[in-house]
Amino acid sequence: MKKIMIAPSLLSADFSRLAEEVRDVEKAGCDALHIDVMDGHFVPNLTIGSLVVSAIRKITKLPLDVHLMIDAPSRYIAEFRKAGADWITIHVEAEKDVRGALQMVRASGAKAGISLRPKTSVEMILPYLPELDLVLVMSVEPGFGGQSFMPDMMEKVKMLRPKFQGLISVDGGIGAGNASQALAAGADILVAGSAVFGKADRAKAIQEFREIFKKF
Ligand code: DX5
Ligand code: ZN
Repeated sequence: MKKIMIAPSLLSADFSRLAEEVRDVEKAGCDALHIDVMDGHFVPNLTIGSLVVSAIRKITKLPLDVHLMIDAPSRYIAEFRKAGADWITIHVEAEKDVRGALQMVRASGAKAGISLRPKTSVEMILPYLPELDLVLVMSVEPGFGGQSFMPDMMEKVKMLRPKFQGLISVDGGIGAGNASQALAAGADILVAGSAVFGKADRAKAIQEFREIFKKF
């Protein structure tokens, strides 16, 4: 049986109580913490930078899954690695030298990921599969938490699964109602913002996911 992971997305946490929020999901038994970095260019929203990642690094042992929704992400790989990122994911459309950026991530000691926004096809990333530890399939348009899951995106997961030995993560609009669709398609990691941080009882929210995981 493969290990299926749940990675709460910090974007839906209460930022005035960030340390408590991180400790809460760690205690609740999540597998990684997903951190959405946005630059106001690649996506319209602005979120957090490496300063916050390094603050979080000090208070948790959870793997930090840093999702860079920024233009030319290679400029910031070293900085996020230094801040404590364990997985660094870039968007394929955001970088000129994608291969170079992925090699830079691996050379830094982090796991390298690439993300596909809804309009980007799987073909775009096929040349990079040997350089990748993780593929993050977006099931919403990147930029904001709390949007509706796009079930059609699971076709990409299905297409990719037989070609790729690394981890496939699905990000956006995931909840107990559609988690099975992502897992049936072949996902290893579910990223969930509002479905975990949006709930008062995070342990219960994560347990609900674990119950679904048992069926796969
Ligand atoms: C969207 C982000 C997601 C988002 C997930 O741009 O990449 O990680 O925070 O949040 P939910 O689960 O609420 O869609
Ligand atoms: Zn994300």
